Amino acid sequence: MTEYLSDLTQRLHYSLPTAQLIESKMPLTPWLKLWLLNDSNMDRPFSPEEVRVIWEAPPYWCFCWASGQIMAKYIEEHPETVRDKVVVDFGAGSGIAAIAAAKFGAKRVIACDIDEDAIMSCKANAELNNVGIEFSDDFFELIQKMDTPDIILAADVLYDRDNIPLLTELRKNCQSILMADSRVKNLDVDGYQAFSEGHAETLPPLERFDEFKHVIIYAAQGTAKE
Ligand SMILES: C[S@@+](CC[C@H](N)C(=O)[O-])C[C@H]1O[C@@H](n2cnc3c(N)ncnc32)[C@H](O)[C@@H]1O
Repeated sequence: MTEYLSDLTQRLHYSLPTAQLIESKMPLTPWLKLWLLNDSNMDRPFSPEEVRVIWEAPPYWCFCWASGQIMAKYIEEHPETVRDKVVVDFGAGSGIAAIAAAKFGAKRVIACDIDEDAIMSCKANAELNNVGIEFSDDFFELIQKMDTPDIILAADVLYDRDNIPLLTELRKNCQSILMADSRVKNLDVDGYQAFSEGHAETLPPLERFDEFKHVIIYAAQGTAKE
């Protein structure tokens, strides 16, 4: 077990003491593997108490969300989106979009997440996929220290509606944005337009998320000066 993985497992045990992580191949992008929650060793659905704990302090990073999977597939099918570009994955979680960008030729990739456990997960998953990625736990601090990113990827960050106003802030700090989301069905934010879609299931499956399998990809031009 690598150092990152053993740290990550310890962190997971704070909320789910018997849980394990398992190397999981993504069904839509089998070239990409992630350390995700192993629900098979539980041999049962999550108990109400476990569902409560997951909701209270959700270890988002040990699930791979439908939007992240659709974003990774889109990058595979349209590698020019990231090739030779500086990419920030905002709300990286497991790091799926960042890893896809690194695999398909991005010049520089930074996985950004406010959750320090998610950053650890991105590190373990970058190692698992053999890609070089940088990490940040503060987007606004990050952009002070770097040239304007060419593209920001954001997958499934609107589960927290407080992030909707951030979409305008993200535009101010990049050349372009791709945002994948399965929760807000009629996004009405200046500059964002739906232009692609797909279907995927959060992994491991969470029954109550079944309605969120339809993912829309929105694109926006950044408003940062070059
Ligand atoms: C539902 S998960 C999605 C993870 C991944 N993008 C995917 O599609 O699988 C949302 C992630 O966004 C992160 N997040 C939420 N608000 C954020 C913010 N303001 N800045 C950075 N990360 C944020 C959370 O910590 C969480 O890891």
